[in-house]
Amino acid sequence: MGLKVLLTGGAGLVGSSVTRRLLDTGSEVFCADDLTLGTLRHVEEFETESGFEFERWDVSRHGWHAPLRGRSFDLLVHAAANSDISLGHGRPEEDARRTFTTTFECLLAARDLRIPSFLFCSTSAVYGSEPVLPTPELTPGLHPVSIYGAGKLASEAFISAFVENYGINAWVYRFGNVVGKRLTHGVIFDFIGKLRQNPAELQVLGDGRQTKTYVDVEDCVSGMLHAFEKSPPGKDHAERFQVFNLSTEGTTSVRQIAEETVAVVTGGKARIRYGTDPIGWVGDVPRTRLSVDKIGELGWRPTLDSTAAVFQAIRDFYEWSK
Ligand SMILES: NC(=O)c1ccc[n+]([C@@H]2O[C@H](COP(=O)([O-])OP(=O)(O)OC[C@H]3O[C@@H](n4cnc5c(N)ncnc54)[C@H](O)[C@@H]3O)[C@@H](O)[C@H]2O)c1
Repeated sequence: MGLKVLLTGGAGLVGSSVTRRLLDTGSEVFCADDLTLGTLRHVEEFETESGFEFERWDVSRHGWHAPLRGRSFDLLVHAAANSDISLGHGRPEEDARRTFTTTFECLLAARDLRIPSFLFCSTSAVYGSEPVLPTPELTPGLHPVSIYGAGKLASEAFISAFVENYGINAWVYRFGNVVGKRLTHGVIFDFIGKLRQNPAELQVLGDGRQTKTYVDVEDCVSGMLHAFEKSPPGKDHAERFQVFNLSTEGTTSVRQIAEETVAVVTGGKARIRYGTDPIGWVGDVPRTRLSVDKIGELGWRPTLDSTAAVFQAIRDFYEWSK
């Protein structure tokens, strides 16, 4: 590709796979991450590569990009956020700062450093609790129920306005649940952590009947870069602020995830205890399934379906985190 890329959240699950893919295709990556969720272990394989730079920066801080004045970037990929959705209920200020303000500060960075293209990691959480399934991008009346979803939707609104005001072109990706080896949060991360503490029993938040759409992180990254390449900006606002759902077509239930995790970690020995609530936490959306027709029309297909992505991630994260 040969791009100069400014990446936030590069020490996280998605950001580290973005980095690997960009470096492998001849791009240079300057990564900023404050390591609140990501770890240096996720980026250590890149440290010896000449096209990679890393700074431990909090990108919600006003003016964080000042040391980069005078440098030139083709693309800003904004993956930093509080990706742990359940945290927002008890600490909404974390999503205000790490999910929303990071986006605002990254938009200022794109404007001031004259970075023409802005790729944003958004979420199916913007669609609220009961959208039509499968949910298309043009779903009307977006009313998120998690603080995190609100932070992402507010971010999308600011990106849209920056596109109009400052000539930035944006690609907004509403991900399903992204899974892979370098997990920092989420259901697989939690189940494996719990089973390591108590191999006899797994307590599940909610009744386990939630069904959600999952996508392998490598497929997710290939989808982001595919849409960026195959759908260049046009003249109209809608062609310069482009929104894509990005996931697999199918879904996987929490019960399937619990049973497979127990099989991998304990050889099927742990007893699974389900709760009684249909949701796992305040702001949880019990059913997600995205229409992926729009990105499919660009010729992108995931290599793993939802359940295959989950089962592979259980094995990969279990081995990686030993
Ligand atoms: N993983 C998913 O299921 C999923 C689904 C939908 C959307 N997303 C979004 O995709 C992006 C990447 O997700 P992920 O799964 O890789 O999450 P992640 O937690 O693994 O990575 C996010 C990274 O951002 C960093 N970060 C957080 N606040 C920061 C700040 N103020 N300054 C600098 N760095 C900061 C964290 O340390 C972490 O390394 C996030 O924006 C997330 O909200 C993820």
